[in-house]
Amino acid sequence: MGKWPLSRRQFLGISAGTLAAGAAGKATLLQPALLSAAPRPAPPSDTLRFASIGTGIRGCELLEATLRVPGIECVAVCDLYDARHIAAQEAVKKQVPATRNYHEILDRKDVDAVIVAVTDHQHRKVVEDACAAGKDVYCEKPMSHTVEDGFAMVAAVQKAKRIMQVGSQRVSSILYAKAKEIYDSGRLGDVYAIEAYWDRNSASGAWVYPIPPDASEQTIDWNAFLDGAPKRPFDPIRFFRWRCFEDYGEGLAGDLFVHLISGIHFITGTHRVAQRAQTAGGLFRWKDGRDFPDLIETFYDYPNFRVMVRCNLNNAGGEFIGFYGTKGTMILNEKTVSYSPQDTRPKPEDYSIYGWPLAAREQYLKEWAEQHPLPAPLDFKVDEETEVFALPPDYSDIPDHQAHFFDAVRTRKPTVENEEFGNHAAIGCHLANYAYFKKAIAVWDESGRKITSG
Ligand SMILES: NC(=O)c1ccc[n+]([C@@H]2O[C@H](COP(=O)([O-])OP(=O)(O)OC[C@H]3O[C@@H](n4cnc5c(N)ncnc54)[C@H](O)[C@@H]3O)[C@@H](O)[C@H]2O)c1
Repeated sequence: MGKWPLSRRQFLGISAGTLAAGAAGKATLLQPALLSAAPRPAPPSDTLRFASIGTGIRGCELLEATLRVPGIECVAVCDLYDARHIAAQEAVKKQVPATRNYHEILDRKDVDAVIVAVTDHQHRKVVEDACAAGKDVYCEKPMSHTVEDGFAMVAAVQKAKRIMQVGSQRVSSILYAKAKEIYDSGRLGDVYAIEAYWDRNSASGAWVYPIPPDASEQTIDWNAFLDGAPKRPFDPIRFFRWRCFEDYGEGLAGDLFVHLISGIHFITGTHRVAQRAQTAGGLFRWKDGRDFPDLIETFYDYPNFRVMVRCNLNNAGGEFIGFYGTKGTMILNEKTVSYSPQDTRPKPEDYSIYGWPLAAREQYLKEWAEQHPLPAPLDFKVDEETEVFALPPDYSDIPDHQAHFFDAVRTRKPTVENEEFGNHAAIGCHLANYAYFKKAIAVWDESGRKITSG
């Protein structure tokens, strides 16, 4: 990753919104690393061929992003809803074959890898089948719909010796790489407290998506959608707003916690599941028949630190992760990461001694000065010491994440966000929901690979 320093005025011009405090001592615009699936344009014989299974909102976004990754080619798309075949072809700007049946794609010998962006309750089935068919897999987050699904997927990937990458793209962001560099440098000191939130305040943010007028049992394979979930009559609300229902999604935990947890695991180098979780929350506003709360706050115990994660669909607070260390504070939001040192230089006690008699207080201060002969430091101006790193305005971490995946497909070196990483992050989501719905402390039983009540 490269960087070039900017004047404060230039920097504020670029990201005035994110630097509202205007207190930056040093501001740097991060330069995008030129990630690509091949170090130079790949010859046709070396082109990786992939297909996309699940071409809804995310599937199309991913397909569009693949156009920016050299050396790869989309050869087929699959979705249960016919209109999404057209949307996928438009996204990839090519009339690739489209099908409702993903087995047709897995049967093709010319497909090296698949992007799986189906609804969460179908991740396991599609990933297991893809691995068994010898395909490498980019699977959207959260990796699993249940704890059991996650371990079955890990086993399927490892048995078939496949490359797997899970889709929390922030793990490939140049912003998160900078945050990890700061964390690893030790400049934060010991970090015992981490706080993260992702708050939204809109119907779309609460998954109240409009139902397309042509949605029907003729245009959607409803029975295939219900595979792995209870049978019920056709219901377009459930098909298009599946995140609201526990049969198919995991609510805010699976949708947004997973990004925050993945980011925290990546930056701190955590390769495990939290030991336990306590959750508060409620459904206050979006009472449309959904199963999940619109406010959820979870406190996680990890061996060396504690993490608080919140998602609130009732205020547009945006995205935030704060690392609070003994030597410094690091704040990540959507476009910037900042580091502010703590003033840890020795100082005489200047608070509690005011409850001492004057003579004792003076004696204490005199002795302190004798033991610390250097002159008292000037007041430490933390604001001026703050460093801010910002993303360039048009940066997207989605092509970077895909490039990491396709690089791994070529080199056969495991991805950072592999099946184990994705499983750990997803279990964090399951712990949060378990604690919320059972009104209990969720305890992770590592050897039993299950959640129990504490
Ligand atoms: N990484 C991110 O930032 C991000 C953002 C949005 C969504 N996602 C994830 O992407 C996935 C898809 O979400 P979405 O918003 O695109 O949902 P969506 O409802 O828009 O699309 C899901 C599609 O999957 C299809 N599908 C389901 N089962 C299938 C099957 N067996 N075969 C073929 N197609 C099948 C459905 O027909 C539907 O069109 C989810 O796992 C979601 O959590 C990730």
